[in-house]
Amino acid sequence: MSQARARGDGEGRLITLEGLDGSGKSTVLAGLRERHPAWTFTREPTGSWYGDAVRRSVGSETADPIAELFLFIADHAEHLRTTVRPTLASDGVVVSDRYIDSRVAYQAVTLAELIDEPAGFIWGVHEPFTILPDLTVFLDVDPETAAERAGATNKFEQVAHLRQVRRRYEAIIAGAPERFTRVDAAAAPEAVLTAVETAIDAVVQR
Ligand code: TYD
Repeated sequence: MSQARARGDGEGRLITLEGLDGSGKSTVLAGLRERHPAWTFTREPTGSWYGDAVRRSVGSETADPIAELFLFIADHAEHLRTTVRPTLASDGVVVSDRYIDSRVAYQAVTLAELIDEPAGFIWGVHEPFTILPDLTVFLDVDPETAAERAGATNKFEQVAHLRQVRRRYEAIIAGAPERFTRVDAAAAPEAVLTAVETAIDAVVQR
């Protein structure tokens, strides 16, 4: 039986933002923060020492991809315990910059040659303990623009890699369309923010 929280129970809501590096998540989050000071804004990798370990791994060209996956998952578990569960339990709104889908997209690419059906494996590790978002906003931008905007400063930000990551995101969305809202991240920043707000409002007020 899945421990994933049923959508819509209680007043608390979990919203996640996903997209390629350079998709404009930071700009959207800054706008949301300003308009909703009572909401809890958080991110993966987190600011905990687990998150530090993740960043150290992401910065390494030689990190073992399986070890890296489990560092990300350790950070996710800590994130659930310290931030996500307590906020939902007190009926708050949590907005997370990246969450499970980042692993199912990015690590499925790094693990593709090591594991059969990596996306299913990665989801399977999360499934017994995680909490599914009520809504995931996917900021959609083509990999070329994303790589250019991100400046390709880490190993995940190269255009060839981002093309594969985007295909993985498309597969996740195809498998759970009801959870996702896709927003055209190539639009003007104000239009992107308005589209994200409209999608979130529909879930928060429900
Ligand atoms: P992030 O902190 O969002 O990037 P930045 O430092 O540019 O703000 O994430 C760091 C990198 O890690 C980014 O390229 C996306 C990647 N990532 C994964 O591969 N898997 C994950 O589960 C997460 C949360 C991030």
